[in-house]
Amino acid sequence: MSIDLLQAHYGFTRTPFGRDLAPGMLHKSAGHGEAVARISWCITEKTLGVITGEVGSGKTVAARAATAALDASRHTVIYLGNPAIGARGIYAAIVTALGGVPRFHKASLIPQAADALAAEEAEKGKRVVVVVDEAHLLSADQLEELRLLTNADMDSHAAFACLLIGQPTLRRRIKLGTFAALDQRIRLRYAMPSMSDLETASYIVHHLALAGRSDTMFSDDATALIHQVARGLPRAVNNLAVQALVAAYAAKKAIVDESSARAAVTEITAD
Ligand SMILES: Nc1ncnc2c1ncn2[C@@H]1O[C@H](COP(=O)(O)OP(=O)(O)OP(=O)(O)O)[C@@H](O)[C@H]1O
Ligand SMILES: [Mg+2]
Repeated sequence: MSIDLLQAHYGFTRTPFGRDLAPGMLHKSAGHGEAVARISWCITEKTLGVITGEVGSGKTVAARAATAALDASRHTVIYLGNPAIGARGIYAAIVTALGGVPRFHKASLIPQAADALAAEEAEKGKRVVVVVDEAHLLSADQLEELRLLTNADMDSHAAFACLLIGQPTLRRRIKLGTFAALDQRIRLRYAMPSMSDLETASYIVHHLALAGRSDTMFSDDATALIHQVARGLPRAVNNLAVQALVAAYAAKKAIVDESSARAAVTEITAD
């Protein structure tokens, strides 16, 4: 089913439950707000923070919202979205992002990255914010290297703010004895909660309103079922809600009722 058909049928002005939301259009669930506030604090304090949460709980969205709110003339955000870039990759990515050409040998790349981070602040007056997303995929070597980097300055004055964002296993991994030194440097820990039933309901209403429909489109029992199956996780809510709209459209219904939501659940949990 084409999304255009759906759009025409329901009179949406844009695709509902899409991923391309500007920071100002985000739903303000409590967990989202807390995460943004804590990430901002971490950046202000120039410290190391760890944000964990289940798949699709809104971690990346929160990190993007927090960094988008920064004064761009005074911050340099380095977003590393995929840690599968090798151990040398983190240093090289930082050097490259700060306008340098990474040295070939790792032994000289480490001080190069540390110097580049320090210079950004000292010379350009910009605070560097390193965001490592999918950080649960970081290797032991990479975690150790991040520790070295956060430790680079001998006077214990951190050169940058660092955020590690990942699935709940990240927290457990760092707690292992081998990473005690990194663990001790973490000043912020936040586990992204899932949305409550009331939040899921307002989340659905919010997304529909963004798409131009402010009237009731999902029945209460449809919303309750979606919340329950999605366990309050935004991405899962999006997927179920879109499928439910498709089901309602196919059944020529004006609103998404419980049976449309149930059809969506069957559709999505089938494979
Ligand atoms: N506050 C919000 N307002 C509106 N939509 C949201 C919000 N939070 C999350 N979403 C929606 O949920 C989707 C998943 O969020 P996000 O990508 O941040 O999850 P994640 O926790 O980073 O997941 P993963 O572990 O897979 O990386 C987003 O693409 C967006 O559509
Ligand atoms: Mg993410």
